Amino acid sequence: MTTESAITHDVVSIKQQDNLGIITINYAPVNALSQAVRQGLINAIARLEADHAVKAIIIRCEGRTFIAGADIKEFGQPPTQPYLPDVVNRIEACNKPVIASLFGTSLGGGFEVALACHYRVALSKAKVGMPEVNLGLIPGAGGTQRLMRVVGPEQALTMITSGQHVSVSTLTRSGLFDVIVEGNDTQELDAQSIIFAEQLIDNDNLEPRRIGEMLVNSDGFDWLAAKANVIKRARGKEAPVAAFEVLEQTQSMNISDGMAVERQRFLALRGSPQSKALIHAFGAEKQTSKPLKKINADAQKVSLVGIIGGGNMGSGIATSFLAANFTVQLIEQSSEALEAGLGRIKANFVSNVKRGRMGQQVADTCLANLSGSVDYQSLSECDLVLEAVFEDINVKKELFKKLTSVCRPDTVFATNTSYLDINEIAASISRPEQLVGMHFFSPANIMKLLEIVKAEHTSEQVIATAMQVGKQLKKISVLVGVCFGFAGNRMYTRYGREVQQMLLEGADVAQIDNAMTSWGMAMGPLAVQDLSGIDIGHNARSAQPFPAHDKGYFRAAATLVEAKRLGRKTQAGFYQYDENGKKHAAPEVAELLQQTAQKLAINQREFSDEEIVQRALFALISEGLSLFKEGIVQQLSDIDAIWLHGYGFPRYKGGPMFQAKQLGKTAVAEQLAQLRAQFGQQIWPDVDLTLLD
Ligand code: 3HC
Repeated sequence: MTTESAITHDVVSIKQQDNLGIITINYAPVNALSQAVRQGLINAIARLEADHAVKAIIIRCEGRTFIAGADIKEFGQPPTQPYLPDVVNRIEACNKPVIASLFGTSLGGGFEVALACHYRVALSKAKVGMPEVNLGLIPGAGGTQRLMRVVGPEQALTMITSGQHVSVSTLTRSGLFDVIVEGNDTQELDAQSIIFAEQLIDNDNLEPRRIGEMLVNSDGFDWLAAKANVIKRARGKEAPVAAFEVLEQTQSMNISDGMAVERQRFLALRGSPQSKALIHAFGAEKQTSKPLKKINADAQKVSLVGIIGGGNMGSGIATSFLAANFTVQLIEQSSEALEAGLGRIKANFVSNVKRGRMGQQVADTCLANLSGSVDYQSLSECDLVLEAVFEDINVKKELFKKLTSVCRPDTVFATNTSYLDINEIAASISRPEQLVGMHFFSPANIMKLLEIVKAEHTSEQVIATAMQVGKQLKKISVLVGVCFGFAGNRMYTRYGREVQQMLLEGADVAQIDNAMTSWGMAMGPLAVQDLSGIDIGHNARSAQPFPAHDKGYFRAAATLVEAKRLGRKTQAGFYQYDENGKKHAAPEVAELLQQTAQKLAINQREFSDEEIVQRALFALISEGLSLFKEGIVQQLSDIDAIWLHGYGFPRYKGGPMFQAKQLGKTAVAEQLAQLRAQFGQQIWPDVDLTLLD
């Protein structure tokens, strides 16, 4: 006979079912370990332990996932009791077997709770991980200790220092799980957890099996080589290195000494500049979807997507759509171009499989949704048509005119233009409200950033649709307004201008790049220009005369183009490239730039690395504040999300606007005033510093 009784607290409840105690956490959205959850868990364990009728305990969650970690909302505040290490230790110390029931993503503190339980039953589709390094932290509640005890130092290091979420199905031999339930059915998980607990009771197997009592087996593990590897991969991030040090230092300690070392490092990292920046980055990404909440329209359903243009950009975009299970119709001008475009898409999937991003079967399924045509008529039933053709406004106007005549009246039109005026394109067609910018970044199938550009007449429904599609593509979609270069490229132009100016003032090519990469940028700005081709930006700019107020404006690039140094493609740009593509310093560039500086009466001098970084960063801050003031972005943190995902800004520095806030209004004001006094109001305009409040 089944007897049931339940005690319900706010977020943690207990149900007694025969001789089982079932603890349920119900704290939306992700069952994070808030103070109330921690207290609830301690109380529930104590209560069930004291209840003689209860022989075994299950910890399970309601909602979308088992506990996804410590509560990030509490991170800005001083820790409150009960502390998480005490909670996990209390669970492990329980004198009745405790079983964790895992689904969704058991992350960080959530995985630590699971490891403190004596047994784990998990869905094969569930994921586990220690993502603390992504927040500039290390596991702080026994994660380093218990994980190392079960899977050994090598796998523990990989999981902890990468922060990756690992699928349970790939951990079947890890020793982490006692039962793996195939699939993703949480009811089945509950049923199997109960069966497992009842088996323990029936077999009188009631002695808790504590991971904390195990020893670490690090036989044959090369700590020295592992350290070098961790440092290399960390690329300036402190937390992975700290995690390594904790594992190495504690490998022979008992669990409580090991946890004390771990906790000390965790607390030292909490509130560190890197951790603050990484937590800000996490929040900035989530914030990008907030404008959607203000939109009063539902997204249209999109499944069939037309993509016009199968060049590098178009094929990358098509790959991205196919990988997200959309059906894609690729359009090209000729059958040769179409073949080439389809070939690029297929090659992208070959690369996806080769690099382990997806299995062959998934790639085949995606590619089965691809077809191509040279006939626009084949777009008649598309829900969304996106163009990625040559950057010429007249070509695009013609194209959209054609589309309005062949497509359904409710088809959403998107342009992937990087710089052209979308308002002008919209004004030339009969359905301006249906046109939106979807600005992808190259390679579009890899880069996470997507600017959704709202033109003057774009309807709310079309914006909602584009944002929804961006989400389905797993992009960081940021809503921006129309201006030259939109948000990202407008700031990039300002950044590039400042770098070019410093070159003329005497800063050395390699010094600029090294200063910026040492600070954390993924690539040096001049190496990037060599890669993309110095003539590309130069040609785009040459439609306009050099601005009178800015005598150094991209003159360094102009000088190099005149000298036929166009970048990697000519094996000569800001650097010299050998036949293997390896870059070398090019002393003649310094000479050329010196001559240009002389002609422009710009005095050359030496720069410190710090000054280079400051000037480049302040150029971004100044432009970012102007963008926000003009309403091009909805919130300052959107600029950070854009720079983190589109331009290689170091995540552990949070983004340019986060940096501005950290420096503080007064310091930013002083620095900008100095630059304004030196270079003039037009280059360093007044900005509204109250935006940093
Ligand atoms: N605390 C509080 N809120 C959280 C949270 C957390 N740990 N994780 C996610 N959320 C919130 C999000 O902010 C979002 O809120 P919103 O709806 O108001 O915007 C909501 O949960 C849903 O999150 P997502 O939109 O990201 O949903 P997804 O399904 O795409 O992803 C997730 C879910 C995989 C759990 C993802 O949110 C994630 O990776 N979260 C971070 C997990 C993490 O880093 N945990 C470790 C924390 S540090 C720790 O545990 C320290 C310990 O060792 C002591």
